[in-house]
Amino acid sequence: MTNNTDFTGQVVVFVGAGNGIGRASLKLVADRGGRVIALDNNKDALTALAKDCNLNADQVFTLDVSQEENVRAAIATIFAQEKRIDALVNSAGMTGPTNRKLEEITWAEYELTLRVNLFGTIWLTQQVVPIMKAQKYGRIVHVASIAGKEGNPGMAPYNTSKAGMIGFVKGIAKEVAPDGVIINAVAPAVIRTPMNATTSEETLKYMIARIPLGRVGEAEEVAETIAFMASRACSFTTGFTFDTSGGRATY
Ligand SMILES: NC(=O)c1ccc[n+]([C@@H]2O[C@H](COP(=O)([O-])OP(=O)(O)OC[C@H]3O[C@@H](n4cnc5c(N)ncnc54)[C@H](O)[C@@H]3O)[C@@H](O)[C@H]2O)c1
Repeated sequence: MTNNTDFTGQVVVFVGAGNGIGRASLKLVADRGGRVIALDNNKDALTALAKDCNLNADQVFTLDVSQEENVRAAIATIFAQEKRIDALVNSAGMTGPTNRKLEEITWAEYELTLRVNLFGTIWLTQQVVPIMKAQKYGRIVHVASIAGKEGNPGMAPYNTSKAGMIGFVKGIAKEVAPDGVIINAVAPAVIRTPMNATTSEETLKYMIARIPLGRVGEAEEVAETIAFMASRACSFTTGFTFDTSGGRATY
């Protein structure tokens, strides 16, 4: 019997692979037989990941997703090398300002958060869609956030970027569906990763108090959902934002 969650023979590209959810997802997909390609703007994190997961030099690329030209070049290099991209998992992200009122946030801070979280999402998708359309197969996964569904106070740029990702995925899914390309997002609540090291105590408390399962999630738990979304097994769901929020959101 075919196991559609197996990645043998598939090339899966992970952006934001150096830490947290991206790193846990890459490990799971590699365990399930995939040839994984890791991208991140944190060179030290990539070096540690490569050592930990026995990745070769041709599986590791430095990329800052906030620069369109760099995104274009990175995907072109990977495609030239691998000759296919079966799935893209984009977990690169930043929280931007937290616990700050809208009028206290500078436009430079606002724009940087949008560039990394939302523009990066758009640019990556623009680059892989033509490749996947030509293959008549592809899976695209973007890591959004509960913040994009519900909005967290004091985090306006982040909320905007994540709601933008969710809306983007909905429409693109309808565009690329006839070509065998499936695109979804996932919306985690608070997950134990390095990203939360800079989130204020007040914001963390606010978020955990709203989670019926009463705890922070683990990166490995989100990775299970992502591995499904990136696999052949995810064949009749597109344009959707999966939930990994411990029950905070039931939609
Ligand atoms: N941890 C949470 O509680 C949580 C909750 C909801 C959503 N998310 C989302 O999940 C995704 C992953 O977050 P995480 O918790 O694993 O965080 P993390 O900080 O552990 O990992 C994010 C990775 O993205 C990389 N990155 C940041 N900016 C980048 C850039 N400009 N170019 C390339 N790479 C860049 C970082 O170096 C890091 O390795 C993010 O999009 C985040 O918004 C996280």
